[in-house]
Amino acid sequence: MQDAFGHRISYLRVSVTDRCNERCRYCMPEEEQAWFPREEVLGYDEMLRVLRVGATLGIKKVRVTGGEPLTRPGVAEFCADVAAIPGIEQVGISTNGTLLGRLEDGETMAARLVKAGVGSANISLDSLDRESYRRTTSRDLLPKVLEGIDAAIAAGFASLRLNCVLMKHQTEAEMVPLIEYAREKGALLRFIELMPVSTQEVLSEDNFLSAGSALRLVEAHYGALKPLPDFRTNGPATYYEIPGSGQKVGFIGAMTNLHFCEACNKLRLTSDGKLRPCLGSCLEFDLREKLRAGCSDEELAQLIHNVVARKPKEHDFRHNYQPNRRMIAIGG
Ligand code: 5AD
Ligand code: SF4
Repeated sequence: MQDAFGHRISYLRVSVTDRCNERCRYCMPEEEQAWFPREEVLGYDEMLRVLRVGATLGIKKVRVTGGEPLTRPGVAEFCADVAAIPGIEQVGISTNGTLLGRLEDGETMAARLVKAGVGSANISLDSLDRESYRRTTSRDLLPKVLEGIDAAIAAGFASLRLNCVLMKHQTEAEMVPLIEYAREKGALLRFIELMPVSTQEVLSEDNFLSAGSALRLVEAHYGALKPLPDFRTNGPATYYEIPGSGQKVGFIGAMTNLHFCEACNKLRLTSDGKLRPCLGSCLEFDLREKLRAGCSDEELAQLIHNVVARKPKEHDFRHNYQPNRRMIAIGG
């Protein structure tokens, strides 16, 4: 599938729930707790149907997101079903890490996911300081997250990434400890620019720390980093190498990188069954109604094609984008 601007679409992010056990300041305001009613959330069977049809159209990679995907019961079994779809080559999960170490039948959630065929885990980690972590997420769960990261390492994900959202007056002091921690754990750390995807006051100019400034802060400590223009993961991160250790660090500059959208290969399915061609645009198309009205696979395929055809050239974050959905309701 290719859109009007030559983006080749091969990647679908599936949000399995809008619920979360944390309340990150930049994502999910404490006071805003209107979850989707259960009947509006797609069943796993409905999500799998969209994925099966998507796979016939060229979707090869799937990332399971939320909210916090591990709060939805049965998610490991769902991942196994996704991994079994012909054409789906990679399955990943994005999680806040708090539940990865939880035991069920003597096995950690992380181990169950790896068994299910999940190859990559992206774990949010904004701070290694318990008080600062609590302030950002409104939950005192840093010890659980660190336990979860260890569980993920023990489980043996092929790819383990740590994501830190950049916030001015806060992340500056966290960067070096996070880099050192990521190196010790053998995980790939990425710093992500704050995006205007919630209605929080926190998304103001005053809290914005650009990827460029963050890079300069890292360089002030380690010396000049070496750009790695050829090192790419699935997404729009640009990577650098730290002198001496050779450790790689990524920067995701959704706001400041003017080439951010050029290689976009993604679609997003929200937990309430909307297909979104772009994170940074209000465009969304309802699949749920069609699915529940008994549409055929051919009709579903046509719908997906239509959404791809409407994929914008680039996100609209830089021009007065009025978010109409919380990040949690889109799926990261
Ligand atoms: N800006 C940037 N990243 C965000 N995330 C959530 N809200 C925002 C935002 N406003 C990230 C989290 C997590 C993933 C689910 O999305 O850090 O890694
Ligand atoms: Fe939950 Fe992730 Fe949003 Fe934080 S950023 S509230 S952990 S979904």
